Parts: sequence; structure tokens; C-alpha cells
Amino acid sequence: MWIVVGTQTLGALEVAERLQGCLGRLGCSSRLVFAEAVGPAELAREERAVFCLSTWRWVLRPKEPADLLPQGAAWLYERLCRERPDLSRLRYAVCALGERAYGPYFCKAGSIYTQLLGWLGARPLQGRLELASPVDGWEELGDWAVALAANLGQGVRP
Ligand SMILES: Cc1cc2nc3c(=O)[nH]c(=O)nc-3n(C[C@H](O)[C@H](O)[C@H](O)COP(=O)(O)O)c2cc1C
Repeated sequence: MWIVVGTQTLGALEVAERLQGCLGRLGCSSRLVFAEAVGPAELAREERAVFCLSTWRWVLRPKEPADLLPQGAAWLYERLCRERPDLSRLRYAVCALGERAYGPYFCKAGSIYTQLLGWLGARPLQGRLELASPVDGWEELGDWAVALAANLGQGVRP
């Protein structure tokens, strides 16, 4: 399973590494990969992926999804929109990181990716996790990882 990381200043990488550690202890192996290194065709061949994404509002009034995504995640988003791979093999989960001070844009990258992946035919493994930065205590992530490990173990293959 891939853990796809979309980060600007590596906060989401820390989340991804912690998630990888939790999943590993639960017997689920995974590979971290930065969003900018993911090709749409490769993603279409995957069966499971978790997306760990921070949100970056680059402009005061965002108009495009890319206005709210870290650069690597924006690059992947644009390639997926352009190439429209069939992601019907893929089951995914999204873990978003953001700051509540951004109000309606809190963790917006998570919902942007959830919408895109659904549009391309991927199916969710479980509900999205939204973490408020700075994260104080990682219990929420640990609980989410436990649920994810259980969902990964059940009926992932149709
Ligand atoms: C310029 C800037 C814009 C940001 N915009 C948002 C935003 O729109 N929504 C949000 O939830 N968090 C926003 N954040 C907070 C970051 O998502 C948060 O600091 C996160 O931990 C950064 O993770 P990263 O290091 O993986 O990029 C912003 C932070 C900065 C510095």
C-alpha cells in the first residue's frame, strides 16, 4: 500500500511517517511516496493508498483547487484531471492536516482529493481524518490507523 504525501514544509510527512509506524505495528506494510513522484497510470494499478495532505491557501480568494494544495499535491491533482485514469481498482483513505484558523479552508486539501478520487472511480476505505496542526497527541491518528488496518483486512478485493 502507498502512503502518498502532499506537503509543503514536511508536517504532513511527519503524519505519514507516524501513520506508517502505526500500520506497521498492526501488520500492514506501506511505502511512503511524495505526490509529485506519483504517476496517474501507476496510481491506476494500485489497489490501496492513503493520502496524507496539508492545505496551503496561496491566494486570498482561492478559485482553483491548486490555490489550496501544497505544490506536489497540486501537480498530481492537475495530472489526474488531465489524464483521467480509471481508478476503479483503488481503495483509498485521506488524512488531512491543517490549521483551524483558516476557517472554511480548514483541511480543504482533504475534501478536494476525496472529490477527485471519487470522480475517477476510487472507493473510500473509511472516513477522512482531519488533524489540527500543531498536533497535540497522536491518539486520534492511532485510532484512525487501527480502523484502517481493520478495513484493509476486510474485503478490499471485490
Ligand atoms: C501560507 C499558509 C497557508 C495555509 N493555508 C491553510 C489553509 O488554507 N487551510 C488549512 O487548514 N491550513 C492552512 N495552513 C496551515 C498548514 O496546512 C499547516 O501549517 C500544516 O501543518 C503544514 O503542513 P506541511 O508542512 O505538510 O505543508 C497554511 C499555512 C501557511 C503557512
